[in-house]
Parts: sequence; C-alpha cells; structure tokens
Amino acid sequence: MQESRAPAYAGPAGVATEKVTIELDRTTTTVAYSAGDTLLQTARMAGLAPPSSCEVGSCGTCMARLTEGCARMLNNDALEVDEVAEGWVLTCQALPTSATVRVVYE
Ligand code: FES
Repeated sequence: MQESRAPAYAGPAGVATEKVTIELDRTTTTVAYSAGDTLLQTARMAGLAPPSSCEVGSCGTCMARLTEGCARMLNNDALEVDEVAEGWVLTCQALPTSATVRVVYE
C-alpha cells in the first residue's frame, strides 16, 4: 500500500513575511510581522484600531486593499471574486504570503 503524500498546508515555499505596512486614517505604520498573525491582528499589535466586527470572514467590515504583496484568506464569505482580484482582503482572515505587504484601509 502506498503512503499518502498529501501535505498539510505549508505556505508558499521560502517566503516569510518580514514587514507589514498599514495605512489607516491617513497614518502609515510599518511593523515587523509575527508568523501566524492575521493582518488585523498585526494592525492591533501595532497599536492601531482598524474596523472589524464578526472576525470570522462574513461581514466585510474589516476589508482593506493590498497595494503591495499578497495574502491568502482562511475564510471569505463576504468578498466577490472581482473584489479579491482587485486586491481586497478580509483582514481578519488574511495571512500575508509575501516578504512585504502593504494594506490600505479606505
Ligand atoms: S470582521 Fe467580519 S469579515 Fe472580518
């Protein structure tokens, strides 16, 4: 019998996020990224208070746009495919997947 080779999700090969830049209320803040944190958690760790509500990916209150870098969402019950294609993410569900990420709350 052959062993199953399906791996657990390991993220994009070799890319560790180092910095996250957050634009909120006309202020730009750049912080070191802590592995496993969502973009919303990262913003809070930086002392920011971005909009949020459900924190399970269904209301869209926490949405922001990535203008640099990329992220994957653990859950998305709020954004349409075209919004995601434009760079919108639910920050309560988004884990960065590039070395640097810039998130703009509009
Ligand atoms: S807070 Fe509701 S989708 Fe993020």
